[in-house]
Amino acid sequence: MSATVIDGKALAQEVRAEWKGRAERLKKAGMQPGLAVIIVGSNPASSIYVRNKARASREIGIYSEIHEFGENSSQEEVIQRIRELNGNPAIHGILVQLPLPPHFESTRVIESIAIEKDADGFHLYNVGALVAGNTVFPPCTPYGVMKMLEKYAIKVEGQHAVVVGRSNIVGKPMALMLLQKGATITICTSRTRELAEHTARADILVVAVGKPHMITANMVKPGATVIDVGINRLPDGRLAGDVDFESVKERAGYITPVPGGVGPMTITMLLCNTIEAAERQQAVRTQL
Ligand code: GUN
Repeated sequence: MSATVIDGKALAQEVRAEWKGRAERLKKAGMQPGLAVIIVGSNPASSIYVRNKARASREIGIYSEIHEFGENSSQEEVIQRIRELNGNPAIHGILVQLPLPPHFESTRVIESIAIEKDADGFHLYNVGALVAGNTVFPPCTPYGVMKMLEKYAIKVEGQHAVVVGRSNIVGKPMALMLLQKGATITICTSRTRELAEHTARADILVVAVGKPHMITANMVKPGATVIDVGINRLPDGRLAGDVDFESVKERAGYITPVPGGVGPMTITMLLCNTIEAAERQQAVRTQL
């Protein structure tokens, strides 16, 4: 039997429709949510992501600014701009598109973002809050995955979740968020020995490694939920996930496609975090 394909595009539209009203209410109250996106250098994938984030922001009623810096800019210059944005009342969310050029220390740059404007959830304070089971701004990609599981009523509590990938952006926060919902967690990396033995025990399998088609049907438990976070460009120009969709969909219970799965949810959750940030900052101001 073929798996149910999780429609990330439709779900993203549904979540955006739910949040649009909140953005409108803020605007009526004189506080349009504002997002500043910082990009350094000219990584083509990053440029596309940043443009997409700005467009999605406009569509939902968020004011957005893109701050572009050349490849050879200094870290101090970028941090100085972040400090200005921290103090700018029209901006409620700030994100620094990663990766930064090699001469940057990403952690230092991200640490300069005001905690209450950290819409990506990458500031160490927010990472610590996530570890403590107390998220402030959940990182957007795993937040989008949790939203997918919730919307498709896929049980997490008591289930065995296997996360393949240990990045700070996806793998680690994903595992923590599943753990918080009561799953039993295994975290694997691309170098895990006997990877298939681990993945085949997963009720929920999340893959974020960046290796096209690395998860094949024999590595998946029948009926499992398979979430593919990978986006890989094949030599012929097509996009492919980390999961061999065609074979795995015949074995899984639920599966996300690439494109049209996790990707649209990531940007959506950034919009949600920005609106949430504006609501919190409005609440603080009305108390003053
Ligand atoms: N680079 C790849 N994914 C992301 C993301 O979610 N946020 C930022 N800031 N950079 C990224």
